[in-house]
Amino acid sequence: MKKGKPTMTTTTQPKAPEYSPGLEGVIAGESTVSYVNPQLVTLIYRGYDIRDLVNHATFEEVAYLLLNKKLPTQAEYDAFVAVLRKERTLPQAVVDAIKTFPKENPPVHPMDLLRTSVALLAMHDPDRDDNSHDANMRKAVRMIAKMTALVTYSYRINRGQEEIAPDMELGHTGNFLYMLTGKKPDKDVVKLFDATLICYVDHGFNASTFSARVVTSTLSDIYSGVVAAIGCLKGPLHGGANEEAMRMLQKIGTPENAESWMLDALARKEKIMGFGHREYKNGDPRAAILSRMAGEFSEKIGDTKWHKMATTCEAVMLREKNIVPNVDFPTSYLYFLMGLPIEIYTPIFAMARTVGWTTHVIEQLDNNRLIRPRALYQGEKHLDYVPRAER
Ligand code: COA
Repeated sequence: MKKGKPTMTTTTQPKAPEYSPGLEGVIAGESTVSYVNPQLVTLIYRGYDIRDLVNHATFEEVAYLLLNKKLPTQAEYDAFVAVLRKERTLPQAVVDAIKTFPKENPPVHPMDLLRTSVALLAMHDPDRDDNSHDANMRKAVRMIAKMTALVTYSYRINRGQEEIAPDMELGHTGNFLYMLTGKKPDKDVVKLFDATLICYVDHGFNASTFSARVVTSTLSDIYSGVVAAIGCLKGPLHGGANEEAMRMLQKIGTPENAESWMLDALARKEKIMGFGHREYKNGDPRAAILSRMAGEFSEKIGDTKWHKMATTCEAVMLREKNIVPNVDFPTSYLYFLMGLPIEIYTPIFAMARTVGWTTHVIEQLDNNRLIRPRALYQGEKHLDYVPRAER
């Protein structure tokens, strides 16, 4: 034994930390990006209430705020918007590779297309092998800008449609809508769409953001973090809920059918997509903002059926289960009313959340410690090995 180091004489074990299934309530790290306050039913990004941001800011402004920890001056905003605009296009090699994705029937889900497209883009990034803070900031902006093309190109090409080149005159979100639909959106629709994206930008240590942080805590690269996050977001308990919620409303069909449909589904113990939240038990501030906007938009375009149906679903869930809608519920029929294809709802969520994912990855790497929890082992411990021939 080496001299000079005292040996342990006691056998006292440190107290095992409490186990919390699904990590519910566990503090898994520090962050200054966003603050979820279920008691006050508020969500704060870098100190600002999302209600103020939705009312006054653009998506680009909020993206700047998250990445740079402050709201931009006009000059900073203009410069940021200009970079996002310049970075809108994709390397031709990425477009060519997207053209080789399987075109099957039923078609590949756009989240799968997006996951692979982002992984492809990673190999063409000029800062590919640089994991420094500055390079990651550049990669984050590039990824946020190019998500518009990755989502729309992969979706359109896979469904046999021509890709639409970006319109450099349009803003970030207006251009996305144009590249998806081929129509220039009116400014009220862009404002509404911005509101949904701002609500989707970040949300504490949600599952996909946490995945991205876990991946990059190994000092892996920012793209790997985002690819993992996209895979995580795809699940219906997370981002996939907006698509599922709209499919449910379609099955319900009419406002008159909503009450009985919901009661039947609850009696079958089905999960109602777009309802419930790990943190918000008294209300999701994003759902409140977007429900109001969805109601107003429905009135404006003269199609109130979905909003009426949704209002009944919400009343039944509250009465029967005391469960409130989350962000995905109003967003689902708002996107439907905006004429967007249902299977693109979760990729839109991913496009917005890329701001949060990349910001969190940079925050993680700026003060990194490997994220490596323990499992509570529940298996056998003392089995005797039996040779194969004797089993
Ligand atoms: N529909 C029906 N029942 C629901 C429900 C929903 N959407 N959400 C929660 N519940 C019920 C659960 O079945 C459970 O009931 P039980 O105690 O009788 O078993 C109880 O409420 C607690 O739910 P639990 O799943 O433990 O809550 P959680 O915090 O782990 O789950 C979600 C949060 C988001 C996973 C859950 O609410 C859910 O699956 N929602 C639907 C998917 C969705 O909209 N996801 C997007 C989230 S932003």
